[in-house]
Amino acid sequence: MTINTVTVDLPGRSYDIRIGAGVLAEAGPRIAKMGGRKHVAIVTDENVAALHIKTLQDNLHAAGLTSEALILPPGEATKSWPHLERTVEWLLDQKVERGDVVVAFGGGVIGDLAGFAASILRRGVRFVQIPTSLLAQVDSSVGGKTGINAPHGKNLIGAFHQPSLVLCDTALLDTLTSRDFLAGYGEVFKYGLLGDAAFFEWLEVNAPRMPTNMDARVHAVTRSCQMKADIVARDETEQGDRALLNLGHTFCHALEAATGYSDRLLHGEGVAIGCALAFETSARMGLCSQEDPSRVRAHLADMGMKKDLVDIPGDLPDAAALLDLMGQDKKVVDGTLRFIMARGIGDAFVTSDVPGDVVRGVLDDALAHKNG
Ligand code: GLY
Repeated sequence: MTINTVTVDLPGRSYDIRIGAGVLAEAGPRIAKMGGRKHVAIVTDENVAALHIKTLQDNLHAAGLTSEALILPPGEATKSWPHLERTVEWLLDQKVERGDVVVAFGGGVIGDLAGFAASILRRGVRFVQIPTSLLAQVDSSVGGKTGINAPHGKNLIGAFHQPSLVLCDTALLDTLTSRDFLAGYGEVFKYGLLGDAAFFEWLEVNAPRMPTNMDARVHAVTRSCQMKADIVARDETEQGDRALLNLGHTFCHALEAATGYSDRLLHGEGVAIGCALAFETSARMGLCSQEDPSRVRAHLADMGMKKDLVDIPGDLPDAAALLDLMGQDKKVVDGTLRFIMARGIGDAFVTSDVPGDVVRGVLDDALAHKNG
């Protein structure tokens, strides 16, 4: 079985991402080598704990480490002040010290929350990400964005705090529902669209095999992590290029807000639809060819994914209200919304120069198709 290593190259804080079926078994030996006390504090959720915590704790034990797990409720509501407080106090109860290692074992919610708790505990302790969802393996566990949600919006409270190691065990993805797997895929195909046309072509052929074929899955996760690692190494704190990772996200955040962050639209599904809308907008502005948005949607259809507003169940607000929600996105700088547009598949760029009436036209047409 292939196991790949991608390195996130940051001065004094470089770390490896290990990718492959079974890399969970590296947790004990690698964490034992990192030093600190022989006791590991694990933050996880009920779903992951029910399926995998025994495997992780047995593995740590075999490496001479004791461990204790804080098992939190699953779901976005856990990324909140009350659960942050509970997590930090539990870590203090566990007597986690400056040199110790905290393990975030779960999807994006657990990674963001535990990473943020690690960033503020004793002014920062090391943490290891063991992501268990496809979305977390290719996006949220890599790059050091940590945080919680506020009543004002998602991810508004947080810190950049890089993990010391990421273990992406691609076999753990076998236990995901098909919907969660495909939602995570929204972040995978984003990488092809934003910066690697050859990877997008590979995905067009091979991505339908990802749920059942481990080699395809390992390659897709590895290429995604390589692209993210390169971008983060160039621009850790999102002064420039890192914003490319937000392709599709401005549309996505408006749609998530419009659907109440509910089960009607998962984040990765919103990213996929958002990427299609970003390409539609780019085509209407004459930046990319008319065929590109059709190709993006055709691939989403091949994957059995949501590809347009018509695929979101229930009513949506009108285009003006959606535009208003886009304006509340945290990518607004000096009152101007920054978009990620594309000159073609694999060639995205950041711009503030997107006429509101073009975006409105794209949304109007998508809503007319939905409501027509
Ligand atoms: N998820 C986008 C980023 O890490 O920058």
